[in-house]
Amino acid sequence: MFTLKQANTYIEENKERIIADYRNDYHVMAPIGWINDPNGFIYYKGEYHLFYQYYPYKAVWGPMHWGHSKSKDLVKWENVPVALAPDQSYDKDGCFSGTAIEKDGKLYLMYTGHIEGETEEGIRQVQCIAVSSDGINFEKVEQNPVITEADLPENAKPQDFRDPKVVKKGDFYYSLIASKKEDGGGQILLYKSNDLLDWEFVSVMFKGEIDEGPMWECPDIFELDGKDVLLFSVDGLPKKENKFLNTHSVLAIIGEMDWGKGVFYKETVEELDYGLDFYAPQTIKDDKNRRIMISWMQMWGRNIPTETKQHGWAGSMTLPRELFIKNNHVYQRPVSEIKNHYTNKQSYDTIKLSDETKEFQELSAEVSAIELVLDVKAGKRFELEVRSNQDERTLLSYDCETSILELNRINSGIDLVGNEEEHVYKRSVYCKPENNKIDLEIFLDWASIEVFANHGKYTLTSTIYPTKKADNIKITAEGEVEIVRLDKWDIEV
Ligand code: FRU
Repeated sequence: MFTLKQANTYIEENKERIIADYRNDYHVMAPIGWINDPNGFIYYKGEYHLFYQYYPYKAVWGPMHWGHSKSKDLVKWENVPVALAPDQSYDKDGCFSGTAIEKDGKLYLMYTGHIEGETEEGIRQVQCIAVSSDGINFEKVEQNPVITEADLPENAKPQDFRDPKVVKKGDFYYSLIASKKEDGGGQILLYKSNDLLDWEFVSVMFKGEIDEGPMWECPDIFELDGKDVLLFSVDGLPKKENKFLNTHSVLAIIGEMDWGKGVFYKETVEELDYGLDFYAPQTIKDDKNRRIMISWMQMWGRNIPTETKQHGWAGSMTLPRELFIKNNHVYQRPVSEIKNHYTNKQSYDTIKLSDETKEFQELSAEVSAIELVLDVKAGKRFELEVRSNQDERTLLSYDCETSILELNRINSGIDLVGNEEEHVYKRSVYCKPENNKIDLEIFLDWASIEVFANHGKYTLTSTIYPTKKADNIKITAEGEVEIVRLDKWDIEV
Protein backbone atom coordinates (compact mmCIF):
# COMPACT_ATOMS: atom_id res chain seq x y z
CA MET A 1 0.00 0.00 0.00
CA PHE A 2 1.05 3.59 -0.56
CA THR A 3 0.62 6.34 2.01
CA LEU A 4 -0.23 9.98 1.46
CA LYS A 5 2.94 11.11 3.20
CA GLN A 6 5.04 8.94 0.90
CA ALA A 7 3.34 10.43 -2.18
CA ASN A 8 3.70 14.06 -1.08
CA THR A 9 7.34 13.60 -0.05
CA TYR A 10 8.14 11.87 -3.33
CA ILE A 11 6.57 14.72 -5.32
CA GLU A 12 8.44 17.42 -3.39
CA GLU A 13 11.74 15.62 -3.80
CA ASN A 14 11.38 14.74 -7.47
CA LYS A 15 9.21 17.34 -9.21
CA GLU A 16 12.19 19.40 -10.38
CA ARG A 17 13.72 16.51 -12.30
CA ILE A 18 11.04 16.13 -14.96
CA ILE A 19 11.65 17.26 -18.53
CA ALA A 20 9.27 20.13 -19.14
CA ASP A 21 9.10 19.85 -22.96
CA TYR A 22 5.49 19.65 -24.10
CA ARG A 23 4.09 20.73 -20.74
CA ASN A 24 1.02 22.85 -21.35
CA ASP A 25 0.82 26.39 -19.96
CA TYR A 26 -2.88 26.86 -19.24
CA HIS A 27 -4.20 23.32 -18.87
CA VAL A 28 -4.27 21.42 -15.57
CA MET A 29 -1.32 19.05 -15.20
CA ALA A 30 0.21 17.15 -12.30
CA PRO A 31 3.68 18.19 -11.08
CA ILE A 32 5.12 14.75 -11.91
CA GLY A 33 3.68 11.32 -12.77
CA TRP A 34 0.60 10.07 -14.54
CA ILE A 35 -2.91 11.55 -14.57
CA ASN A 36 -6.20 10.40 -16.05
CA ASP A 37 -9.85 11.25 -15.25
CA PRO A 38 -10.81 14.53 -13.59
CA ASN A 39 -12.37 13.76 -10.19
CA GLY A 40 -14.23 15.69 -7.52
CA PHE A 41 -14.56 18.91 -9.53
CA ILE A 42 -16.25 21.46 -7.25
CA TYR A 43 -16.54 25.15 -6.41
CA TYR A 44 -15.88 25.21 -2.67
CA LYS A 45 -15.36 28.21 -0.36
CA GLY A 46 -14.58 30.60 -3.20
CA GLU A 47 -12.22 28.38 -5.21
CA TYR A 48 -12.45 25.76 -7.89
CA HIS A 49 -11.00 22.41 -6.84
CA LEU A 50 -10.08 19.73 -9.28
CA PHE A 51 -8.87 16.30 -8.23
CA TYR A 52 -7.67 13.70 -10.69
CA GLN A 53 -6.71 10.06 -11.06
CA TYR A 54 -3.05 10.11 -10.22
CA TYR A 55 0.00 7.88 -9.97
CA PRO A 56 2.89 10.08 -8.83
CA TYR A 57 5.72 7.54 -9.04
CA LYS A 58 5.88 6.92 -12.79
CA ALA A 59 4.43 8.39 -15.96
CA VAL A 60 2.24 5.33 -16.45
CA TRP A 61 -1.04 4.22 -14.88
CA GLY A 62 -0.54 2.58 -11.46
CA PRO A 63 -2.35 2.27 -8.09
CA MET A 64 -4.53 5.33 -8.21
CA HIS A 65 -4.27 8.28 -5.85
CA TRP A 66 -6.29 11.51 -6.07
CA GLY A 67 -4.03 14.39 -7.13
CA HIS A 68 -5.36 17.88 -6.42
CA SER A 69 -5.18 21.35 -8.00
CA LYS A 70 -7.13 24.50 -7.18
CA SER A 71 -7.82 27.74 -8.95
CA LYS A 72 -9.63 31.04 -8.54
CA ASP A 73 -10.29 31.54 -12.24
CA LEU A 74 -10.23 28.08 -13.92
CA VAL A 75 -7.14 29.10 -15.92
CA LYS A 76 -4.31 29.53 -13.40
CA TRP A 77 -4.04 26.36 -11.36
CA GLU A 78 -2.01 25.62 -8.27
CA ASN A 79 -0.95 22.10 -7.35
CA VAL A 80 -1.73 21.26 -3.74
CA PRO A 81 -0.97 18.07 -1.77
CA VAL A 82 -2.33 14.72 -2.93
CA ALA A 83 -5.76 14.20 -1.34
CA LEU A 84 -6.19 10.41 -1.29
CA ALA A 85 -3.78 7.49 -1.38
CA PRO A 86 -4.71 3.80 -1.62
CA ASP A 87 -3.90 3.07 2.02
CA GLN A 88 -6.87 1.06 3.34
CA SER A 89 -7.93 -2.55 2.89
CA TYR A 90 -11.03 -1.41 0.95
CA ASP A 91 -9.08 0.76 -1.55
CA LYS A 92 -5.65 -0.85 -1.38
CA ASP A 93 -5.19 -1.14 -5.15
CA GLY A 94 -6.58 2.23 -6.13
CA CYS A 95 -8.79 5.16 -5.21
CA PHE A 96 -10.68 5.20 -8.50
CA SER A 97 -12.78 8.01 -9.95
CA GLY A 98 -15.55 9.83 -8.15
CA THR A 99 -17.05 13.20 -7.33
CA ALA A 100 -17.31 15.84 -4.61
CA ILE A 101 -20.21 17.51 -2.85
CA GLU A 102 -20.48 20.09 -0.07
CA LYS A 103 -22.52 19.29 3.03
CA ASP A 104 -22.69 21.42 6.20
CA GLY A 105 -19.67 23.41 5.04
CA LYS A 106 -17.56 20.27 4.63
CA LEU A 107 -16.21 18.82 1.42
CA TYR A 108 -17.18 15.19 0.85
CA LEU A 109 -15.52 12.98 -1.76
CA MET A 110 -17.22 9.82 -2.96
CA TYR A 111 -14.88 7.49 -4.81
CA THR A 112 -14.41 3.85 -5.78
CA GLY A 113 -12.14 1.58 -3.75
CA HIS A 114 -10.47 -0.90 -6.07
CA ILE A 115 -9.32 -4.25 -4.71
CA GLU A 116 -7.40 -6.65 -6.96
CA GLY A 117 -8.02 -10.40 -6.74
CA GLU A 118 -5.93 -13.48 -7.48
CA THR A 119 -7.81 -13.64 -10.78
CA GLU A 120 -10.00 -11.13 -12.64
CA GLU A 121 -13.04 -12.76 -11.05
CA GLY A 122 -11.65 -11.81 -7.65
CA ILE A 123 -11.56 -8.07 -8.34
CA ARG A 124 -13.96 -6.01 -6.20
CA GLN A 125 -15.01 -2.38 -6.50
CA VAL A 126 -16.75 -0.63 -3.58
CA GLN A 127 -17.79 2.95 -2.89
CA CYS A 128 -16.14 5.07 -0.19
CA ILE A 129 -16.35 8.52 1.40
CA ALA A 130 -13.65 10.95 2.56
CA VAL A 131 -14.35 14.29 4.28
CA SER A 132 -12.48 17.56 4.72
CA SER A 133 -13.14 20.81 6.56
CA ASP A 134 -10.43 22.82 4.82
CA GLY A 135 -10.64 21.40 1.29
CA ILE A 136 -7.04 20.12 1.49
CA ASN A 137 -6.79 17.43 4.18
CA PHE A 138 -9.17 14.48 3.91
CA GLU A 139 -10.17 11.74 6.33
CA LYS A 140 -11.70 8.52 5.11
CA VAL A 141 -14.82 7.76 7.17
CA GLU A 142 -14.96 4.76 9.48
CA GLN A 143 -18.19 3.51 7.83
CA ASN A 144 -16.23 2.74 4.63
CA PRO A 145 -16.96 1.10 2.30
CA VAL A 146 -20.42 2.67 2.22
CA ILE A 147 -21.71 0.71 -0.80
CA THR A 148 -20.51 -2.83 -1.50
CA GLU A 149 -21.26 -5.94 -3.51
CA ALA A 150 -24.10 -6.69 -1.04
CA ASP A 151 -25.92 -3.60 -2.34
CA LEU A 152 -25.81 -4.64 -6.00
CA PRO A 153 -28.96 -5.60 -7.87
CA GLU A 154 -29.12 -8.84 -9.87
CA ASN A 155 -27.16 -8.94 -13.10
CA ALA A 156 -24.46 -6.46 -11.98
CA LYS A 157 -20.82 -7.49 -11.79
CA PRO A 158 -19.00 -6.67 -8.51
CA GLN A 159 -15.77 -6.40 -10.53
CA ASP A 160 -16.96 -3.39 -12.54
CA PHE A 161 -18.90 -1.05 -10.29
CA ARG A 162 -17.36 2.38 -10.15
CA ASP A 163 -17.14 6.17 -10.61
CA PRO A 164 -19.93 7.50 -8.33
CA LYS A 165 -21.43 10.89 -9.23
CA VAL A 166 -23.24 12.42 -6.24
CA VAL A 167 -26.01 14.97 -6.69
CA LYS A 168 -28.55 16.45 -4.28
CA LYS A 169 -32.26 16.53 -5.12
CA GLY A 170 -34.57 17.91 -2.43
CA ASP A 171 -33.64 16.28 0.88
CA PHE A 172 -31.80 13.37 -0.69
CA TYR A 173 -28.40 12.66 -2.08
CA TYR A 174 -28.29 10.39 -5.10
CA SER A 175 -25.30 8.54 -6.46
CA LEU A 176 -25.09 7.37 -10.07
CA ILE A 177 -22.67 4.45 -10.36
CA ALA A 178 -21.41 2.82 -13.56
CA SER A 179 -21.83 -0.94 -13.72
CA LYS A 180 -21.31 -3.83 -16.09
CA LYS A 181 -24.17 -6.28 -16.62
CA GLU A 182 -23.38 -9.97 -16.03
CA ASP A 183 -24.79 -10.68 -19.48
CA GLY A 184 -22.84 -7.86 -21.17
CA GLY A 185 -23.34 -4.16 -21.73
CA GLY A 186 -23.21 -1.11 -19.52
CA GLN A 187 -25.75 0.30 -17.10
CA ILE A 188 -26.04 3.08 -14.56
CA LEU A 189 -27.25 2.22 -11.07
CA LEU A 190 -28.93 4.74 -8.79
CA TYR A 191 -28.48 4.84 -4.99
CA LYS A 192 -30.03 7.17 -2.43
CA SER A 193 -29.01 8.51 0.99
CA ASN A 194 -29.91 11.29 3.40
CA ASP A 195 -26.47 11.62 5.01
CA LEU A 196 -23.97 10.44 2.35
CA LEU A 197 -23.03 7.50 4.59
CA ASP A 198 -26.01 5.17 4.60
CA TRP A 199 -27.05 4.25 1.06
CA GLU A 200 -29.88 2.21 -0.43
CA PHE A 201 -30.23 0.90 -3.98
CA VAL A 202 -33.03 2.62 -5.93
CA SER A 203 -32.97 1.42 -9.52
CA VAL A 204 -31.16 0.68 -12.73
CA MET A 205 -31.68 4.20 -14.07
CA PHE A 206 -30.36 3.60 -17.58
CA LYS A 207 -28.98 0.62 -19.43
CA GLY A 208 -27.49 -0.37 -22.75
CA GLU A 209 -27.19 -3.39 -24.95
CA ILE A 210 -23.98 -5.27 -25.62
CA ASP A 211 -23.45 -3.39 -28.91
CA GLU A 212 -23.55 -0.11 -26.99
CA GLY A 213 -20.20 -0.84 -25.37
CA PRO A 214 -19.18 -3.45 -22.78
CA MET A 215 -18.49 -0.95 -19.98
CA TRP A 216 -19.77 2.50 -19.23
CA GLU A 217 -17.69 4.77 -17.00
CA CYS A 218 -17.84 8.13 -15.22
CA PRO A 219 -21.56 9.03 -15.38
CA ASP A 220 -22.71 12.60 -14.78
CA ILE A 221 -26.18 14.12 -14.75
CA PHE A 222 -27.39 17.71 -14.67
CA GLU A 223 -30.23 20.03 -15.61
CA LEU A 224 -29.43 22.43 -18.38
CA ASP A 225 -31.72 24.89 -20.11
CA GLY A 226 -34.86 22.96 -19.16
CA LYS A 227 -33.56 19.48 -20.05
CA ASP A 228 -31.76 16.72 -18.20
CA VAL A 229 -28.41 15.71 -19.63
CA LEU A 230 -26.69 12.42 -18.91
CA LEU A 231 -23.01 12.14 -19.81
CA PHE A 232 -20.99 8.97 -19.65
CA SER A 233 -17.84 7.54 -21.13
CA VAL A 234 -17.84 4.23 -22.96
CA ASP A 235 -15.00 1.77 -23.13
CA GLY A 236 -15.21 0.04 -26.50
CA LEU A 237 -18.17 1.66 -28.23
CA PRO A 238 -18.28 0.11 -31.72
CA LYS A 239 -17.57 2.45 -34.63
CA LYS A 240 -20.53 3.81 -36.57
CA GLU A 241 -19.68 5.47 -39.91
CA ASN A 242 -17.18 8.16 -38.91
CA LYS A 243 -18.28 8.24 -35.27
CA PHE A 244 -16.75 6.63 -32.19
CA LEU A 245 -13.40 6.05 -33.89
CA ASN A 246 -11.42 6.21 -30.66
CA THR A 247 -11.12 3.15 -28.42
CA HIS A 248 -13.18 5.07 -25.84
CA SER A 249 -15.94 7.60 -26.56
CA VAL A 250 -18.03 10.08 -24.61
CA LEU A 251 -21.80 10.30 -25.03
CA ALA A 252 -24.11 13.19 -24.20
CA ILE A 253 -27.73 12.10 -23.89
CA ILE A 254 -30.45 14.69 -23.65
CA GLY A 255 -33.65 13.48 -22.03
CA GLU A 256 -35.65 13.54 -18.87
CA MET A 257 -34.84 12.16 -15.45
CA ASP A 258 -37.67 10.98 -13.23
CA TRP A 259 -36.03 11.03 -9.78
CA GLY A 260 -39.18 9.61 -8.17
CA LYS A 261 -39.07 6.48 -10.32
CA GLY A 262 -35.29 6.53 -10.71
CA VAL A 263 -35.47 6.30 -14.50
CA PHE A 264 -33.81 8.36 -17.23
CA TYR A 265 -35.72 8.66 -20.53
CA LYS A 266 -33.51 9.39 -23.51
CA GLU A 267 -34.37 11.73 -26.35
CA THR A 268 -31.15 12.32 -28.31
CA VAL A 269 -27.69 10.76 -28.21
CA GLU A 270 -24.56 12.53 -29.45
CA GLU A 271 -20.84 12.05 -29.35
CA LEU A 272 -19.57 14.90 -27.18
CA ASP A 273 -16.25 15.67 -28.86
CA TYR A 274 -14.98 14.83 -32.34
CA GLY A 275 -11.26 14.85 -31.65
CA LEU A 276 -8.75 12.18 -30.74
CA ASP A 277 -8.15 12.89 -27.07
CA PHE A 278 -11.15 13.49 -24.87
CA TYR A 279 -12.40 11.18 -22.13
CA ALA A 280 -14.13 10.96 -18.76
CA PRO A 281 -15.49 14.54 -18.48
CA GLN A 282 -17.01 15.81 -15.27
CA THR A 283 -19.19 18.87 -14.68
CA ILE A 284 -20.13 21.29 -11.92
CA LYS A 285 -22.46 24.19 -11.40
CA ASP A 286 -20.46 27.13 -10.06
CA ASP A 287 -21.45 30.20 -8.06
CA LYS A 288 -22.32 32.03 -11.29
CA ASN A 289 -24.81 29.27 -12.13
CA ARG A 290 -22.70 28.07 -15.03
CA ARG A 291 -22.46 24.39 -15.94
CA ILE A 292 -18.75 23.85 -16.47
CA MET A 293 -17.13 20.72 -17.83
CA ILE A 294 -13.54 19.57 -17.76
CA SER A 295 -12.20 16.42 -19.34
CA TRP A 296 -9.06 14.29 -19.54
CA MET A 297 -7.26 15.39 -22.74
CA GLN A 298 -5.89 11.99 -23.63
CA MET A 299 -7.06 8.60 -24.90
CA TRP A 300 -6.53 5.13 -23.49
CA GLY A 301 -4.49 2.74 -25.58
CA ARG A 302 -2.16 5.13 -27.41
CA ASN A 303 1.48 6.01 -26.84
CA ILE A 304 2.08 9.21 -24.91
CA PRO A 305 5.50 10.68 -25.83
CA THR A 306 6.18 12.01 -22.31
CA GLU A 307 5.59 8.63 -20.69
CA THR A 308 9.36 8.07 -20.66
CA LYS A 309 11.35 7.83 -17.46
CA GLN A 310 13.22 11.01 -18.39
CA HIS A 311 10.11 13.13 -18.98
CA GLY A 312 8.43 11.62 -15.96
CA TRP A 313 4.90 12.89 -16.53
CA ALA A 314 1.87 12.15 -18.72
CA GLY A 315 -1.51 13.75 -19.19
CA SER A 316 -3.37 17.03 -19.09
CA MET A 317 -6.95 18.23 -18.75
CA THR A 318 -8.93 20.18 -21.35
CA LEU A 319 -9.71 23.85 -21.04
CA PRO A 320 -12.80 24.13 -18.78
CA ARG A 321 -15.85 24.63 -20.98
CA GLU A 322 -19.24 26.10 -20.27
CA LEU A 323 -22.15 23.99 -21.51
CA PHE A 324 -25.52 25.04 -22.79
CA ILE A 325 -28.32 23.63 -24.92
CA LYS A 326 -29.63 25.07 -28.15
CA ASN A 327 -32.05 23.24 -30.45
CA ASN A 328 -31.72 20.08 -28.38
CA HIS A 329 -27.95 19.96 -28.82
CA VAL A 330 -25.20 20.37 -26.21
CA TYR A 331 -22.90 23.32 -27.02
CA GLN A 332 -19.51 23.92 -25.42
CA ARG A 333 -17.77 27.29 -25.01
CA PRO A 334 -14.38 27.98 -23.46
CA VAL A 335 -14.91 29.63 -20.06
CA SER A 336 -14.79 33.41 -20.46
CA GLU A 337 -11.98 33.77 -17.86
CA ILE A 338 -9.49 32.62 -20.49
CA LYS A 339 -9.94 36.01 -22.18
CA ASN A 340 -8.33 37.72 -19.16
CA HIS A 341 -5.13 35.98 -20.22
CA TYR A 342 -5.14 37.15 -23.83
CA THR A 343 -2.30 39.44 -24.96
CA ASN A 344 -0.77 40.72 -28.22
CA LYS A 345 -3.93 40.89 -30.27
CA GLN A 346 -3.59 40.82 -34.05
CA SER A 347 -6.65 41.31 -36.26
CA TYR A 348 -7.48 41.08 -39.94
CA ASP A 349 -10.70 41.31 -41.88
CA THR A 350 -12.14 40.95 -45.37
CA ILE A 351 -9.33 38.96 -46.91
CA LYS A 352 -10.53 37.28 -50.08
CA LEU A 353 -8.84 34.03 -50.94
CA SER A 354 -9.44 32.72 -54.43
CA ASP A 355 -7.78 30.51 -57.01
CA GLU A 356 -5.42 33.44 -57.75
CA THR A 357 -4.68 34.65 -54.17
CA LYS A 358 -4.67 31.30 -52.58
CA GLU A 359 -2.87 31.85 -49.32
CA PHE A 360 -2.85 33.86 -46.16
CA GLN A 361 0.33 33.43 -44.18
CA GLU A 362 1.21 36.36 -41.98
CA LEU A 363 0.75 35.09 -38.50
CA SER A 364 2.51 32.86 -36.05
CA ALA A 365 1.03 31.18 -33.00
CA GLU A 366 2.16 28.78 -30.29
CA VAL A 367 0.30 29.17 -27.00
CA SER A 368 -2.56 31.10 -28.53
CA ALA A 369 -6.23 31.60 -29.23
CA ILE A 370 -7.43 32.14 -32.80
CA GLU A 371 -10.91 33.28 -33.81
CA LEU A 372 -11.76 32.92 -37.44
CA VAL A 373 -14.93 33.54 -39.42
CA LEU A 374 -14.93 32.30 -43.00
CA ASP A 375 -17.51 32.90 -45.69
CA VAL A 376 -17.69 29.69 -47.70
CA LYS A 377 -20.63 30.51 -50.00
CA ALA A 378 -18.51 30.44 -53.18
CA GLY A 379 -15.80 28.15 -51.83
CA LYS A 380 -14.83 24.57 -52.54
CA ARG A 381 -12.49 23.92 -49.67
CA PHE A 382 -10.26 25.62 -47.17
CA GLU A 383 -7.34 24.41 -45.13
CA LEU A 384 -5.91 25.90 -41.98
CA GLU A 385 -2.47 24.78 -40.91
CA VAL A 386 -1.42 25.49 -37.35
CA ARG A 387 1.66 24.60 -35.29
CA SER A 388 3.50 24.12 -38.56
CA ASN A 389 7.11 24.28 -39.68
CA GLN A 390 8.82 23.01 -42.81
CA ASP A 391 7.99 19.38 -42.11
CA GLU A 392 5.13 19.31 -39.67
CA ARG A 393 1.64 20.70 -39.48
CA THR A 394 -1.69 20.13 -37.78
CA LEU A 395 -4.36 20.47 -40.40
CA LEU A 396 -7.94 21.62 -40.05
CA SER A 397 -9.79 21.40 -43.35
CA TYR A 398 -13.30 22.08 -44.54
CA ASP A 399 -15.00 20.67 -47.58
CA CYS A 400 -17.66 23.17 -48.63
CA GLU A 401 -19.45 20.60 -50.77
CA THR A 402 -19.86 17.92 -48.09
CA SER A 403 -19.75 20.28 -45.04
CA ILE A 404 -17.16 18.02 -43.41
CA LEU A 405 -14.76 19.67 -40.96
CA GLU A 406 -11.70 17.50 -40.40
CA LEU A 407 -8.81 17.61 -37.94
CA ASN A 408 -5.76 15.71 -39.10
CA ARG A 409 -2.63 15.18 -37.03
CA ILE A 410 -0.78 12.64 -39.16
CA ASN A 411 1.97 15.18 -39.71
CA SER A 412 1.76 17.04 -36.42
CA GLY A 413 5.02 15.68 -35.07
CA ILE A 414 5.62 12.53 -33.03
CA ASP A 415 3.44 9.71 -34.34
CA LEU A 416 0.73 8.74 -31.86
CA VAL A 417 -0.18 5.15 -32.54
CA GLY A 418 -2.30 2.90 -30.43
CA ASN A 419 -3.94 -0.43 -30.12
CA GLU A 420 -6.76 0.44 -32.52
CA GLU A 421 -7.23 -1.86 -35.51
CA GLU A 422 -6.08 0.93 -37.77
CA HIS A 423 -3.96 4.00 -37.15
CA VAL A 424 -6.43 6.71 -36.15
CA TYR A 425 -4.98 10.14 -36.87
CA LYS A 426 -7.92 12.18 -38.12
CA ARG A 427 -11.45 12.82 -36.99
CA SER A 428 -14.22 14.78 -38.62
CA VAL A 429 -17.69 16.15 -38.11
CA TYR A 430 -20.54 17.26 -40.36
CA CYS A 431 -20.68 21.00 -39.74
CA LYS A 432 -23.14 23.03 -41.82
CA PRO A 433 -22.35 26.69 -42.47
CA GLU A 434 -24.56 29.17 -40.62
CA ASN A 435 -25.49 32.13 -42.89
CA ASN A 436 -22.81 30.83 -45.28
CA LYS A 437 -20.20 31.09 -42.55
CA ILE A 438 -18.01 28.74 -40.58
CA ASP A 439 -16.95 30.10 -37.24
CA LEU A 440 -13.86 28.62 -35.57
CA GLU A 441 -12.26 29.23 -32.20
CA ILE A 442 -8.98 27.43 -31.80
CA PHE A 443 -6.96 27.06 -28.61
CA LEU A 444 -3.35 26.01 -28.87
CA ASP A 445 -1.07 25.00 -26.03
CA TRP A 446 2.35 23.31 -26.26
CA ALA A 447 0.90 19.86 -26.83
CA SER A 448 -2.77 20.39 -27.63
CA ILE A 449 -5.36 21.80 -29.97
CA GLU A 450 -9.01 22.42 -29.06
CA VAL A 451 -11.34 23.52 -31.84
CA PHE A 452 -14.79 25.00 -31.17
CA ALA A 453 -16.77 25.14 -34.41
CA ASN A 454 -19.88 27.22 -35.07
CA HIS A 455 -20.05 28.87 -31.65
CA GLY A 456 -19.30 25.64 -29.79
CA LYS A 457 -21.77 23.41 -31.61
CA TYR A 458 -18.99 20.90 -32.21
CA THR A 459 -15.58 20.51 -30.60
CA LEU A 460 -12.50 18.60 -31.71
CA THR A 461 -9.83 18.02 -29.06
CA SER A 462 -6.45 16.44 -29.69
CA THR A 463 -2.93 16.24 -28.41
CA ILE A 464 -0.07 17.06 -30.80
CA TYR A 465 3.69 16.82 -30.34
CA PRO A 466 5.70 18.88 -32.88
CA THR A 467 9.36 17.85 -32.76
CA LYS A 468 10.78 21.35 -33.31
CA LYS A 469 9.60 24.94 -33.26
CA ALA A 470 6.19 24.97 -34.93
CA ASP A 471 4.53 28.35 -34.95
CA ASN A 472 3.36 28.99 -38.50
CA ILE A 473 -0.22 29.46 -39.56
CA LYS A 474 -1.35 29.18 -43.13
CA ILE A 475 -4.81 29.43 -44.65
CA THR A 476 -5.36 28.23 -48.21
CA ALA A 477 -8.51 28.01 -50.28
CA GLU A 478 -9.98 26.44 -53.36
CA GLY A 479 -12.79 28.40 -54.95
CA GLU A 480 -13.56 31.73 -53.29
CA VAL A 481 -13.35 31.86 -49.53
CA GLU A 482 -13.42 35.08 -47.57
CA ILE A 483 -11.77 35.54 -44.21
CA VAL A 484 -14.46 37.79 -42.76
CA ARG A 485 -12.55 38.21 -39.52
CA LEU A 486 -9.42 36.77 -37.99
CA ASP A 487 -8.20 37.57 -34.48
CA LYS A 488 -5.27 36.01 -32.74
CA TRP A 489 -3.98 36.45 -29.21
CA ASP A 490 -1.15 34.89 -27.24
CA ILE A 491 -2.25 33.33 -23.99
CA GLU A 492 -0.18 34.13 -20.93
CA VAL A 493 -0.80 32.71 -17.48
C1 FRU B 1 -11.92 5.85 -16.80
C2 FRU B 1 -11.49 4.89 -15.70
C3 FRU B 1 -12.55 4.84 -14.60
C4 FRU B 1 -11.76 4.41 -13.40
C5 FRU B 1 -10.45 5.11 -13.62
C6 FRU B 1 -9.25 4.35 -13.13
O1 FRU B 1 -10.89 6.39 -17.53
O2 FRU B 1 -11.26 3.63 -16.23
O3 FRU B 1 -13.64 4.01 -14.90
O4 FRU B 1 -12.36 4.79 -12.21
O5 FRU B 1 -10.32 5.32 -15.02
O6 FRU B 1 -8.10 5.12 -13.17
